[in-house]
Amino acid sequence: MRAKIALTGHTRGIGSSLYDFYLASGHEIRGFSKSNGYNLPDKIPQLLKEADDCDVFINNAYSDGAQIVLLSNLWERWKGKDKIILNISSIRARYVKAPDPRYAAFKAGLDKMAKECLSRGPLPKILSVSPGVVDTVSNINRAGPKLTIDQAVKVIDWVLFNPIGALVSEITFIHPEQQMTVG
Ligand SMILES: NC(=O)c1ccc[n+]([C@@H]2O[C@H](COP(=O)([O-])OP(=O)(O)OC[C@H]3O[C@@H](n4cnc5c(N)ncnc54)[C@H](OP(=O)(O)O)[C@@H]3O)[C@@H](O)[C@H]2O)c1
Repeated sequence: MRAKIALTGHTRGIGSSLYDFYLASGHEIRGFSKSNGYNLPDKIPQLLKEADDCDVFINNAYSDGAQIVLLSNLWERWKGKDKIILNISSIRARYVKAPDPRYAAFKAGLDKMAKECLSRGPLPKILSVSPGVVDTVSNINRAGPKLTIDQAVKVIDWVLFNPIGALVSEITFIHPEQQMTVG
């Protein structure tokens, strides 16, 4: 199936690799980032209009509470429609002490918002992916084990287009040597 996918944060990191991966897989993909005029949360109304005919929305770019505001507005717009919203959350929402507690709190808020939406009906499907540390440019100076971006892309794709036909609503994944402890 050729899907129409909207993706925030497509110019760097996990988003950039997801963009290239889905383009190469034959899907139609539209990227929305600060550098192409979609500063979040300011540009949410415009972005929602342009993503309205998409089947899938990957809520990837992090900017404080912007992912939560985006999810709540998108859910209102897509309520009852057979579409998918996939949020990129983080292990830091639940398991690991975050260097920046605000980041942990905003990611926990994103997970909670997803559950609130889900409790109001099955459509759109809302999926949540929570990676541990990934080897992106922003983590270049971070010591310790890191997932590769390719691993992150493969897990996200497996959740989104699940080949075994199961609905995987949330998943946490880390490098096998990263500790899954509450800090
Ligand atoms: N990297 C990790 O270890 C890790 C681990 C767990 C979860 N995550 C989550 O994974 C997602 C992607 O992280 P990443 O590390 O791949 O990101 P990144 O390398 O920092 O890239 C951020 C992307 O988001 C865009 N962006 C940033 N602020 C924006 C804003 N205000 N409005 C619109 N676009 C904005 C940037 O584009 P422009 O600068 O071009 O606008 C860029 O394309 C985030 O939600 C992050 O919290 C990351």
